[in-house]
Amino acid sequence: MVKQLHDFSLVSLNTFGMRVRAAEFIEYDSMADFFDIEFESLPEPLLHIGGGSNLLFTGDFPGTVLHSAIKFITPLDDCCPDGIRVSVGAGVCFDDFCSWAASQGLWGVENLSHIPGEVGAAAVQNIGAYGVEVKDIIETVYCYDLEEEEFVHFDVSECAYGYRDSFFKKEEVKGRYIVTHVIFRLTKTYSPRLDYGHLKEAVENAFSESSGAITPELVRNVVISIRKSKLPDVSDLGSAGSFFKNPVVAYDVFEAVDKYAKEKYGNDYKTPHYDAGDGLVKIPAAWLIEQCGWKGYSEGNVGVYEKQPLVIVNKTGKARPSEIIALENKIMDSVEDTFSIRLSPEVEHVNS
Ligand code: EPU
Repeated sequence: MVKQLHDFSLVSLNTFGMRVRAAEFIEYDSMADFFDIEFESLPEPLLHIGGGSNLLFTGDFPGTVLHSAIKFITPLDDCCPDGIRVSVGAGVCFDDFCSWAASQGLWGVENLSHIPGEVGAAAVQNIGAYGVEVKDIIETVYCYDLEEEEFVHFDVSECAYGYRDSFFKKEEVKGRYIVTHVIFRLTKTYSPRLDYGHLKEAVENAFSESSGAITPELVRNVVISIRKSKLPDVSDLGSAGSFFKNPVVAYDVFEAVDKYAKEKYGNDYKTPHYDAGDGLVKIPAAWLIEQCGWKGYSEGNVGVYEKQPLVIVNKTGKARPSEIIALENKIMDSVEDTFSIRLSPEVEHVNS
């Protein structure tokens, strides 16, 4: 079925809750339906969205917003003694896939539980949490190529995955490929990934309180409770999750940040950072933003979440894109003035 609507409100299709409209909106639930769409007659540009959880519409969208409702989760075959391949439609809510995998006792995707968004966008964005990125479990991404008008597929090695980045986000190909489905590889044998932060401790605590074993379901439940305690629920408070990327800087830039922190908190202070290889250091943007006094900041309809300053929130549900952008710029300017580091947004800005 193809749903086609004119002058459509996008408020329920972007987790930030921006009250913007699209000139045209189209949703399809199979590739056969996709071919029924009369592209020649549609207002341009075209924008294909997933769950709208990583987007900031900067105003009304003059073109056509497309959305896939292709929803299936189909186990394919055993790819190796302890692995299984699963084909998942682009329109499946990513957390429904995580929930399904946990219910089957399959490992690989449990750390990515409760991330808003859909499977197609997850493969484009390379979503990540608690030491796992979706690229770690992707085998192949299947797409429709709008330019050549044919189905194509990309092996994970061809997707140029990086931190919240992929081949599909490159300027030259942006918007060209529509993800139809993704093949994931999950594992049947015990293989939790607990090396991020306090995840191991939290899982061990949950395990000691339970009568069972450490299962994908148990890890999933722990991840969900950590996320719920740190991040706003987008159904209560509009946001697009982390607004900024964690910056990766040269070692001497980190040394200057560390000097600042030690002057402020004393010589024993451990400035949070991770080795990013090649002499580079990743610094949590949340920490930089908090140092600049933004945590819990509130102004008009917008604010900085009090438990995780990486998240800009639509406090009243009435925020305009211009208010979000004004706050974004103020945060970026103040972090740059204090640390000489220019943050870059993780959230994709869709221009009107
Ligand atoms: N921190 C602070 N103050 C705070 C919160 C955090 O200083 O109020 C510092 C602490 O040093 C903490 C560090 O930031 O140890 C890291 O915090 P956290 O573990 O919450 O992770 P993050 O780097 O802030 C990233 C992802 C999240 C993902 C978490 C957990 C990015 C941009 N964000 O956040 O992803 O859930 O790790 O793995 O990489 C998203 O992309 O929307 C998202 C929520």
